[in-house]
Amino acid sequence: MSLKIKNIKKKKNKIKIVCLTAYSKNIAKILDKYCDITLVGDSLANVLYGMENTHNLTLKTMLQHSISVRKSVKKSLMVVDMPKGTYKSPDQAKKNAKIIKKTTNCDAVKIESNNKNFKIIREITKANIPVMGHIGYTPQFKKRFKVEGSNNNEIRRLIKEAISIEKAGAFSIVLECITPSTAKLITKLLKIPTIGIGSSKYCDGQILVTDDILGMSGFYPKFVKKYVNINSIIEKAVKKYSKEVKTKKFPQNKNFLYGK
Ligand code: KIV
Repeated sequence: MSLKIKNIKKKKNKIKIVCLTAYSKNIAKILDKYCDITLVGDSLANVLYGMENTHNLTLKTMLQHSISVRKSVKKSLMVVDMPKGTYKSPDQAKKNAKIIKKTTNCDAVKIESNNKNFKIIREITKANIPVMGHIGYTPQFKKRFKVEGSNNNEIRRLIKEAISIEKAGAFSIVLECITPSTAKLITKLLKIPTIGIGSSKYCDGQILVTDDILGMSGFYPKFVKKYVNINSIIEKAVKKYSKEVKTKKFPQNKNFLYGK
């Protein structure tokens, strides 16, 4: 197990794990200073490409964004989401995880759970590629958004699923939109750290989509905190540029590369 993975696991019950998503090197450079985990999430399908869901995102696109992110990620643990359809069988999953690892030099991959693919996690970890699990609302497998863990059947199913993922060898697990009491219970039961998104303060760490916290995506459910409205900052700058070009205020002599 790599030192970076060991350090993430050691934080459980001691210090909260900070995670955000990055799709390009410029954002990743800033994140890397403050995050323990930088995730190249398949949310880039919706957030960046305006797709309806994550289902048609290709491995090639994930690889391209991950190569860009890798250029800036030095300190944090870089995790790459495996796109839907790239881990349908243990053999296919192992082959594609190896391609992701070799092409991007990432530290780990993330797999969404369909409550069946535990053998797939086992195969990838056996190939020495660390895996992050993901339960609760898993957009690759669920059509409708729903908070999970609000009745006994769901609680039992989520606990069993989380334990199976841990047993399969995952080093951590994302809990997406799970009720606070269930997230608390899972966090207590597991030895590996839980990373929450919309799953309360009881998780070992937190993750959000960076574009959401920056106010860029237009997606602001209750579990997202918008820390800045970057869109309005960008708009101000673009408006000023546009005005200066039209009024010939830009460029000035000092902006010329040669002579006058
Ligand atoms: O794709 C993604 O960005 C994710 C996080 C929201 C956990 O899976």
